[in-house]
Amino acid sequence: MQLISTVEDLRTARRGLTGKAGFVPTMGALHQGHASLVRQSVAENDLTFVSIFVNPTQFGPNEDLDKYPRTFEADVALLESLGVDFLFAPNVADIYPKGEAQISFQIRDLDKVLCGASRPGHMNGVVQVVSILFHLVQPDKAYFGQKDYQQFLILKTMATELHMPVQVVPCPIVREPDGLAMSSRNRYLGREEREQALFLSRLIQAIQQQRGQWTSLAQIQEFAAAELSQYPLVRLDYLEVLDGRSLKPLHDLSPESHPHIFVAAFLGTTRLIDNAPLWNDR
Ligand code: PAF
Repeated sequence: MQLISTVEDLRTARRGLTGKAGFVPTMGALHQGHASLVRQSVAENDLTFVSIFVNPTQFGPNEDLDKYPRTFEADVALLESLGVDFLFAPNVADIYPKGEAQISFQIRDLDKVLCGASRPGHMNGVVQVVSILFHLVQPDKAYFGQKDYQQFLILKTMATELHMPVQVVPCPIVREPDGLAMSSRNRYLGREEREQALFLSRLIQAIQQQRGQWTSLAQIQEFAAAELSQYPLVRLDYLEVLDGRSLKPLHDLSPESHPHIFVAAFLGTTRLIDNAPLWNDR
């Protein structure tokens, strides 16, 4: 694996390459969810690029940018073992040489709900950095985990609308044996928080199990509020059921309307998310 840390070196390396290139952008602190994206890229492409860049523009002023986990040596070892060809790990000044970027993107409806609404500016920062990375790496396919379902939809829309020659590939959520969706932020959780974090995946499963019985979103939200009473360490951010294709509100919860369950919750200061379609088991 070749380690590249500047934009210039990436351009030089990229220029001479032929064959299909797969790309997995990450913020490091890699876990088995990332590994599954990398494995898929290695299997489907001639070359695989991974980036590790903790992107400051996607963190809000009171979020965890400074304490975001950094495990570079372990990440390098994992990526080597998975057969990655290039690891691009730039520093902030390489990606944003002028400090604050002058050009940013506006996202219309897809950003007005879920994490876009709870974390203002977050999705803009994601679009900004991923568009930069796509321009630099020039991948044929880029792989994103569906835990960040809204992020995936927005990036797919970005690639389509900007006519980028890259296929944005959604990959299944990878879970711990007890059901918790894998996330770099899980390592923040204390023992009791880790136990109660199961609220998210258990709630989704319970909603799926009663899928034929729900008559409205309000009824599902009432059910969630009752379940929450068993998890005193959990503070619910949102529970929504939206159209999984457009993130628009739904008039009915039938399979034809593609209802998709989204949940976000805080355990202490750690914010976790999870999601699944109402009608398909995950
Ligand atoms: O999902 C992430 O880890 C990040 O949002 C991404 C896509 C690497 C952009 O910084």
